[in-house]
Amino acid sequence: MKFKRVLIKISGEAIAGENGYGINEDVLRSICEGIKEAYKTGVDIAIVIGGGNIWRGKNGKKMDRTTSDHMGMLATIINGLALQAELDDLGVDTRLQTSIEMREIAEQHIRKKAIRHLEKRRVVIFAGGTGNAFFTTDTGAALRAAEINADAILLAKSVDAVYDSDPKLNPDAKRYDEISYEDILNKKLRVMDLTAVSLCMDNKIPIYLFSILEPQNIVRILNGEEIGTKIS
Ligand code: GTP
Repeated sequence: MKFKRVLIKISGEAIAGENGYGINEDVLRSICEGIKEAYKTGVDIAIVIGGGNIWRGKNGKKMDRTTSDHMGMLATIINGLALQAELDDLGVDTRLQTSIEMREIAEQHIRKKAIRHLEKRRVVIFAGGTGNAFFTTDTGAALRAAEINADAILLAKSVDAVYDSDPKLNPDAKRYDEISYEDILNKKLRVMDLTAVSLCMDNKIPIYLFSILEPQNIVRILNGEEIGTKIS
């Protein structure tokens, strides 16, 4: 395989399906089937899930940002539990770790324990983002990927690649098969939070952006197929 260990970042919206809100169990199931296929290749899999299908920190208009971000972090834990339940149901051994201590519900995040789980062939789900307000789950994904020495981040989005402008609004938008971290930062392309991109750049972690609307794309990337955009 091209990779030994990867971190898959799934946005909260991805599991909302067409409603754009909450959790669509059919969509969740098909994403988890894609994850199971990827797991069966023998590559170590860690997952970071966002919470935008429930609450996003920047949604709060009058609320203070810290409280709003805390609510967003709790949303990612709800999604983490849903993902774990579905993967368990598919017979994939999982461990859920949260960056905010929530002992009755999940394990606390301990880096070495996470690595041990991966070595024992468990899929580790990291929920709660970085555990700090003012940081996105993208940054949480970059941080965890660096911590577990992941070979790549697989960035699962509803778009299929990086474009220089929104392809839904601009039919002439340029599509990138490959792009550098610097270009993403300089052009301020909002495919991933810029803090997360610089963290990946500093730690030389390539990012593969692809569409999760076809969950088998995960295994295609692991097999070295060039779909979506590679950021390196
Ligand atoms: P090993 O140490 O490799 O055997 O890992 P393990 O995860 O199987 O052992 P452990 O006894 O730590 O965990 C057994 C189960 O309890 C797993 O499903 C864990 O996710 C869960 N677990 C462990 N610690 C906590 C915790 O603090 N809170 C909650 N809710 N579950 C936990």
